[in-house]
Amino acid sequence: MPERGENMYRIQTFNNIAIRGLERYPRETYEVASSLPDPDAFMLRSHNLHETPIPDSVVAVGRAGSGVNNIPVDLLSERGVAVFNAPGANANAVKELVIGGLLLAARNLIPAAEYLRGLDGDLPDFEKRVEDGKKRFVGFELPGRTLGVIGLGAIGVKIANAARGLGMHVIGYDPKITVESAWRLASDVERARSVDAVVSQADVITFHVPLNDQTRNILDATRIRSLKPGAIVINLARDGIVDDTALGAALDAGRVHAYVSDFPTPALIRHPRVITLPHLGASTVESEENCAVMIADQLRDYLEHGNVVNS
Ligand code: MLT
Repeated sequence: MPERGENMYRIQTFNNIAIRGLERYPRETYEVASSLPDPDAFMLRSHNLHETPIPDSVVAVGRAGSGVNNIPVDLLSERGVAVFNAPGANANAVKELVIGGLLLAARNLIPAAEYLRGLDGDLPDFEKRVEDGKKRFVGFELPGRTLGVIGLGAIGVKIANAARGLGMHVIGYDPKITVESAWRLASDVERARSVDAVVSQADVITFHVPLNDQTRNILDATRIRSLKPGAIVINLARDGIVDDTALGAALDAGRVHAYVSDFPTPALIRHPRVITLPHLGASTVESEENCAVMIADQLRDYLEHGNVVNS
C-alpha cells in the first residue's frame, strides 16, 4: 500500500475536474491542487498525459471518464502505477446525446433551422422559405427502423433500450460479450454475428467501442459502401473509429443521409449533412459529477487501503 508521511496524500489535478469530486478528499488528509511537489496521484479528464512528465512519486492515475487513450497505460503499468477510469458514469449523458443527434438528423432539424436563419428579414422571401423548407426538409420516423449498435457496454445497452422505447428494431454486435446474461441486459436486441451484419442492416448505426487496433477505422470505405442508402452514422465514441474522408464522399454523393460526430474534422465541419460537436458526450452537470466522484472514491480507496476496484 502506498504511504506518505503523516498520512497526508497529494492529488494533482488537471483541467476540467468537477469540484464535487474533489470534495471527496478531506482537507485533514489530502492536498489537492493543480501543482504539487511529489504528488501521490494524478486526477484528470481530457488532459494528454502522454506529453506530461510523471514523477516517480505518482502511484495512481484516475481518469474522470471511460476512455483511457490520453493516458500512457502500458508505460504506467510497467512502472507499477495503477490506472483507474469511470466506466458507466457518463452512460446516461452519452445515451441522451445519441438519441438527440438521431432525432436531429432524422428530422433534418439543423439544416432546416439554418435555412431559415439565413434570412435577412425580407418578408416575402421569408414566407417563401418557410413554404420551401416544409417540402425540402421532410424527415422520417423511427418506429420500425433498425438501429445498429456496435459495442454493448454500459453506454451501448442504454442506447439500445432507449431506441427500443422509441419503437426501433435494434441489432447489436459486441465481440467481447459472449455470455447470455450480458445480452439479456439489452432486452429485445437482435444479436449480430459480425460488424458487417450490423452495417448492412442498420438505418442508423452508432459506435460505442474504445479506440484500439481492432476498432480503428472500423467503419472503413468498404463498410461505408455497404451501408443502406440514406443511413445515419453516429460516432460519439472516439475519433478514428470512422473513416471521415470516405464518409464525406458518401455524404457528398447523398448515399448517407447524415453523420453525427463528437469529433469535428475541419473537412466536414461545414458539411450540410454533418452535425459535429466539440466532444460533448459526457458534458452534463450530472455526468461530470458522477465521473469525478467515481474516480475520487477509487483513488482514495487505493491510496488509503490499497484496494483496486477498477483498473
Ligand atoms: C470519456 O471517455 O468518457 C469521455 O471522453 C469523457 C470526456 O468527455 O472527457
